[in-house]
Amino acid sequence: MLAQIKSCTIYGIESLLVDVEVDISRGLPAFDIVGLPNTAVRESRERVKAAIKNQEFEFPIKRITVNLAPADIKKEGPHFDLPIALGILVATEQLPIEHLNEYAVVGELSLDGCTRPVNGILPMAIKVKETGLKGIIVPRENVKEASVIRGIDVIGVNSVEEAVSFFKGGFTPHIFTDQQEHSNSDGNSGDFSEVKGQENLKRCLEIAAAGHHNVLMIGPPGSGKTMIARRIPSILPSMTFEETLEITKIYSIAGLLSDHSGLIKRRPFRAPHHSISPAGLVGGGRIPKPGEVTLAHYGVLFLDELPEFPREILELLRQPMEDEKITISRFNATITYPSKFMFVASMNPCPCGYYGDPFNECTCMPYQIKRYISKISGPLLDRIDLQIEVAPIKFSDLEKTETTDSATIKNRVETARAFQLERYKNRKMYYNSQLTPNLLNTYCKLGKNEKQLMKEAFFRLKMSARAYNKVLKIARTIADLEQSQDIKEYHIAEALRFRNIDKIYSRL
Ligand SMILES: Nc1ncnc2c1ncn2[C@@H]1O[C@H](COP(=O)(O)OP(=O)(O)OP(=O)(O)O)[C@@H](O)[C@H]1O
Ligand SMILES: [Mg+2]
Repeated sequence: MLAQIKSCTIYGIESLLVDVEVDISRGLPAFDIVGLPNTAVRESRERVKAAIKNQEFEFPIKRITVNLAPADIKKEGPHFDLPIALGILVATEQLPIEHLNEYAVVGELSLDGCTRPVNGILPMAIKVKETGLKGIIVPRENVKEASVIRGIDVIGVNSVEEAVSFFKGGFTPHIFTDQQEHSNSDGNSGDFSEVKGQENLKRCLEIAAAGHHNVLMIGPPGSGKTMIARRIPSILPSMTFEETLEITKIYSIAGLLSDHSGLIKRRPFRAPHHSISPAGLVGGGRIPKPGEVTLAHYGVLFLDELPEFPREILELLRQPMEDEKITISRFNATITYPSKFMFVASMNPCPCGYYGDPFNECTCMPYQIKRYISKISGPLLDRIDLQIEVAPIKFSDLEKTETTDSATIKNRVETARAFQLERYKNRKMYYNSQLTPNLLNTYCKLGKNEKQLMKEAFFRLKMSARAYNKVLKIARTIADLEQSQDIKEYHIAEALRFRNIDKIYSRL
């Protein structure tokens, strides 16, 4: 007899509906799974067999063929265990088929037939809703995550037996429908008001947040670079519901939702260590998972001690920084993950950390400093609009008590973002960092005095065309923070204060 159970699979950050067809026929006992399964899916056979037996059901000693349709999409992960098990029970008439087709079924099984939580439940629940199915059967631990999607029934089961009794009407699980409560899984990671002094750096980060510009901070040890970087998400605009959902989907697929619960409402902050692998950074692996560039989507990707990162790793950042997405080629498939992040990096100015420090003497030889900074490639630096020298912290600053808090800065950032959105509403653009050289002519028109100032600065500071464009973009954002349509002289003057890294080292 043939049974057909609906289930889901993950492709990129979306989910697709999969039909799990189970056919049982006479012949030599066998158990095959076809339809592009990966190793984890093929291993299902052993788990399903043991699970069915250990839950006191009968496992047929016949020829079992499982087909996962559509057959042209690669199926990965262990979440087909439960639908396969139920398919076998239907095909052997141990479970009636009626009602089963109104639900999608997902779940991993352990050998004793209990369910185990799986990754990617949120995008699956979204798919179930889109398809108009009544609900989804998931492992008990995944219930909360699936319940984020309103309007479908989420049925959590602890074992194969519970799933069977649900369809036989003998077990009434608590059905989650229209759950109102969305918990925020992330705690608060600090406030700008805790950072004393460093007004220049804070202003720089406010500009960065307002125009979504990438930032490189260069400064001596202990000046607070790492501390302030961790607080950047607190000044970024609040996320829209769509953004929240997309981020939560990504964390669901990566298996990183803390205690398998609600929506993530805070923008991500990811700070990978410099020993990270290429797959860890951009994604991939045996069961493909998003990497750090995707986990930082709509948030901040922070590379602390930038020169410690191997060059090959830094080169990998070029595509996601440019395209705001990353494409990974795999055997017979390519996967695209979104990666729209704000790039923030920090570094000491030299190996000892004190080059240019007014209070401490730098003990590095010029060639050591050159070698140190040469690790960061030109193309990466080109993509960093704001490069700022961080001063050592002053004693008098430590005693200050009055500092602006994150909420106030965030307000100003949100206003500036709204101003940009309005200006770019006829384009697929959201903020100033997306301005290409062509668009600069349209959106950064200068008056006579402003042109003269830019011209003087160009010659005096020996600017490159790229540096010139960056100054224009930053000046645009500074003007936006004041909701000024025109870029004025003092906006440019402020933008000129952020020197490029090559200028910092011009004395070498
Ligand atoms: N501006 C500041 N206000 C308050 N505390 C600060 C400030 N700067 C540094 N600190 C304190 O000093 C500690 C070290 O700062 P942090 O690790 O951010 O420095 P860093 O610039 O990243 O140094 P390194 O280059 O060695 O990584 C912080 O945890 C914090 O307690
Ligand atoms: Mg640090």
